Amino acid sequence: MFNPGNIGELKLQNRFIRSATAEFIANDEDGTITEEYYPLYSNLGLGEIGLIIQGHLYVMDEGKAHTHMAGIANDMQIDGLKKITKLVHEADKRNLIAAQLNHGGANSVSTKTASAREDKGVKVMSGEDIENVIKGFGAAALRVKKAGYDAVQIHSAHGYLLSQFLSTKTNKRTDSWGGSLENRARFLLTVYHAIRAAVGPNYPVLVKMNGSDDPLEGFTVEEGAKVASWLANEGLDAIEVSGMKSTRPVKKANEGYFVATGRRISHHIGDMPLILVGGLRSQTQIQELHDEFADFISLCRPFIREPDLVQKFRSGKKRADCISCNRCFKERIVTKCFELED
Ligand SMILES: Cc1cc2nc3c(=O)[nH]c(=O)nc-3n(C[C@H](O)[C@H](O)[C@H](O)COP(=O)(O)O)c2cc1C
Ligand code: SF4
Repeated sequence: MFNPGNIGELKLQNRFIRSATAEFIANDEDGTITEEYYPLYSNLGLGEIGLIIQGHLYVMDEGKAHTHMAGIANDMQIDGLKKITKLVHEADKRNLIAAQLNHGGANSVSTKTASAREDKGVKVMSGEDIENVIKGFGAAALRVKKAGYDAVQIHSAHGYLLSQFLSTKTNKRTDSWGGSLENRARFLLTVYHAIRAAVGPNYPVLVKMNGSDDPLEGFTVEEGAKVASWLANEGLDAIEVSGMKSTRPVKKANEGYFVATGRRISHHIGDMPLILVGGLRSQTQIQELHDEFADFISLCRPFIREPDLVQKFRSGKKRADCISCNRCFKERIVTKCFELED
């Protein structure tokens, strides 16, 4: 796990990734970042983490997924983000930071937003709406480069817009964006192409995707493996395998709760690196999974509690202290671990 590894042209100092973690501290009126981001990312920047993925950024105002979410929907938002990338790069010259791009779809704050189907009062997206969102992702990816990020990740997991299209539970369309797997995956693939066209052939583009939408049964792991293989064929640089109910409590029995999905997908993606996420806590298990199939291991909650966890693992620590109580998630505060405060 402590050997360097490549994602496209990026050389990561080790195989640990900080999975995207929404910060809930952006200015709510305009999605710009606040000073509260700086200590959070300075700390992570000192932690010798192979790649830091910042919390999701909305690509269009109507795709904002929750209050106090940061955006990359207009040029005005670039300057603040630039400060974060600069800070991380200055903390340690080996550091790499990626931006994660998202559109909430039916799970957006705005009632004007559009989705794959009528849901919670939101309207079904027209072909024109879909084209606008695709353009929005492309334009946002250009801003990602301008803000100094080393890579961009497309959020196609956890029930947000792109994953809503993948699943038959949320995609009831009868046009070319719904029905067959090819049609359901068209949105994600087209967004990927728009982003690739915007950032160029060598800039690392990653996707975080539900390997399946279990327990909904609208997107199977066989389908997840197919979509992942299509993305690999199109030149995607890495896939992070996640799933629904992404922040589960972690017990001994379900430690690494997307292991089976990740393993299955790993057989279908050729040389494209696979990043595994979800309840990984023990160094022994992490190393075994890496030896078996997971090129990189991604952690979220453990880095809230221990931003220096990679260094601790290197010094022989056996498992992360995070007990996955989810208080940080429920209270929407990721600048501290509640268990440490009590
Ligand atoms: C507070 C919090 C915020 C999160 N924000 C994001 C996010 O912005 N984008 C994303 O893809 N996943 C997000 N997640 C999910 C994590 O990236 C990760 O997939 C999940 O927590 C499982 O990993 P873990 O067991 O190491 O925490 C978030 C999770 C938590 C707890
Ligand atoms: S609050 Fe709970 S879930 Fe969050 S980092 Fe602390 S122990 Fe982990």
